[in-house]
Amino acid sequence: MSEFKRVLVTAALPYANGPIHIGHLAGCYIPADIYVRFLRAQRKDVKFIGGSDEHGVPITIRAMKEGVSPQQIVDRYHGQIKHSFEQMGISFDVYSRTSSPVHHETAAAFFKKLYDDGLFEEKETEQYYDEKTHTFLADRYIIGECPHCHNPNAYGDQCEKCGTSLSPEQLINPRSALSDAIPVKKKTKHWYFPLQQYEAFLKKWILEDHTNWKNNVFGQCKSWLDSGLQSRAMTRDSNWGVKVPLPDAEGKVLYVWFDAPIGYISATKELTDKWADYWCQEDTKLVHFIGKDNIVFHCIIFPAMLKAHGGFVLPDNVPANEFLNIEGEKVSTSRNWAVWVHEFIKDFPGCEDVLRYVLCANAPENKDNDFTWKDFQDRNNNELGSIFGNFVNRTFVLMHKLCRGKVPALHAGKLDAKDEAIIADIQAAKNKVQAALENYRFRDALYDVIDLSRKGNKYMQDKEPWIIAKQVSADPEAQKSIDNCLHLCLQLTANLAILINPFLPSTAKKMLHMMKVVDKMLDWENAGKLNLLSVGYSLRAPEILFRKIEDAEIEAQIQKLKSGSAAVATTDAPTPEIVSKAADNSSLKPEITFDDFAKLDLRSGKVIAASKVEKADKLLQLQVDLGFEERTIVSGIAQHFDPETIVGKRVVVVANLAPRKMRGIQSNGMILMAEDAEGKLVFIQSEEAVAAGSKVS
Ligand code: MF3
Ligand code: ZN
Repeated sequence: MSEFKRVLVTAALPYANGPIHIGHLAGCYIPADIYVRFLRAQRKDVKFIGGSDEHGVPITIRAMKEGVSPQQIVDRYHGQIKHSFEQMGISFDVYSRTSSPVHHETAAAFFKKLYDDGLFEEKETEQYYDEKTHTFLADRYIIGECPHCHNPNAYGDQCEKCGTSLSPEQLINPRSALSDAIPVKKKTKHWYFPLQQYEAFLKKWILEDHTNWKNNVFGQCKSWLDSGLQSRAMTRDSNWGVKVPLPDAEGKVLYVWFDAPIGYISATKELTDKWADYWCQEDTKLVHFIGKDNIVFHCIIFPAMLKAHGGFVLPDNVPANEFLNIEGEKVSTSRNWAVWVHEFIKDFPGCEDVLRYVLCANAPENKDNDFTWKDFQDRNNNELGSIFGNFVNRTFVLMHKLCRGKVPALHAGKLDAKDEAIIADIQAAKNKVQAALENYRFRDALYDVIDLSRKGNKYMQDKEPWIIAKQVSADPEAQKSIDNCLHLCLQLTANLAILINPFLPSTAKKMLHMMKVVDKMLDWENAGKLNLLSVGYSLRAPEILFRKIEDAEIEAQIQKLKSGSAAVATTDAPTPEIVSKAADNSSLKPEITFDDFAKLDLRSGKVIAASKVEKADKLLQLQVDLGFEERTIVSGIAQHFDPETIVGKRVVVVANLAPRKMRGIQSNGMILMAEDAEGKLVFIQSEEAVAAGSKVS
């Protein structure tokens, strides 16, 4: 590590397409943050780069579905994600976004340089096109019947039911996920990056020079390289993204995986004028923290791009984690099988460090791993609370009780074998933790910290200063043994603060406060020292570091997860409404009180006019007569009914819903619909005889 002058740490830019969940944190943000805090504690020159990935097809689709602009989507989630990271103590030096002007310039210039150097191949191919929405369709956005298992909603790249990889051609009755239109083939021109030309370079660089990469990362790279690389299109047909900086490229943008990693460079530019030191000097150590689905992009494609461009450093390491499952099942944002970070923060305020702890202690470092709420509770109550927290608390309580609240002296002549042993443990811990952190073994490192507190507990238990205290009046010398014990326990506490700081920064802060020492004490070089707290110094009363987490809280979370109500379902994979046809009684929303129900004002109404909303194939604009007034209501039913056919229908209206703008039209309420067995919408009609405006209850 010492040959490097500075370290540049990046963490994958999350798509600003939905909130982040704990799988994101476990996959890369927590380990990246621990690593960065560890380097900062060593006073290394380090920059931690993050930001939102704001381009790509899912964002445009989501915008289309909601009838808003892609910019509105990314604005919403960029802010929310950034806030979640701050709350979780993810200490980016910059958290940027790829819709920023500096990014657009940087990415366009990068592309232009490769273009001017003649590196791209220009190719015309036929691709699927949705004529209704005027969009080229990625395979994922073509839906049809699986030729193998006859699942009616298989995707053009894969059937999720039987797991078979598919191509759109294989689907029976293919249709567009956007509009239900039958996709047609259409010619389009794109710029391809000839990855195969970098194969020899990549093989040497990875398979020979970077055999130290984690097995899961190295293995994936090797299998890509072994199966041969091919040209990849680096542009797409879309209006959302970085425009292809060439004449004659109207409606073409850079492929999101071309522009996003360049986002690391743009964000560094935003952070500092010295950005080129970090990106272009050979003595920079570049480390990309990512999840396993990003490996090929960070280990193969982006390095090849950097190499092709020239003048940039390449990553020294790419410590990718595997996936974190939840309660034994894969995370699914569309099914809402996820623990959302913003929800966690709301439900467990002040427990952010606990989540950091659990996600590190149980990180999917080498294989997929499982998060369970029970394990969360156990680790909090039994490891953080009963071991670490308990040791610190007992030390402080006894120091106040037996040593008048001051750091007692160490009587060197009175040290016994147990004292000597704990001194050795304190001194040894630093190297163990450091070696693990330097090798991206965060779980081991954290284990070693907790293990030191475990040893502290045992030491205290063996020494029993509270028993010795009973002898002091008869034998004043006995106080020296108490002093030694608590002196060492306090120095151990100070050491624990230093060692836990990269993992649990708020906890370390609280400990500093209790010890009345300044931040500087947390410098890594202080770890292993036994003179961190001066003799005679008076310390504060202990604070509880980790509150107990009750069974009821855990049960509520499991319930919430099961009822699929943790948050609004989000789509990072496309989950067009038409896919989720089947009436699903198993996912009832959580119980509400009668008072909650009573807040709804349901009225009977009558549709008196209906028309299509321009450029929104899902929306109809309705005029609804409520007896006492007429309302405009925008409803997402255009794919189910022609406007003419619903005039005169009786409907049930949620009459006191806050107004909402859709495609520039203010919608004042909502009409209730039901889904039949085939997923077709049917009206929940009130009887003819019921006058418009009547209450429904
Ligand atoms: N947005 C991508 C994802 O969530 C990650 C992009 S990382 C970057 O999978 F390198 F492209 F920025
Ligand atoms: Zn299938």
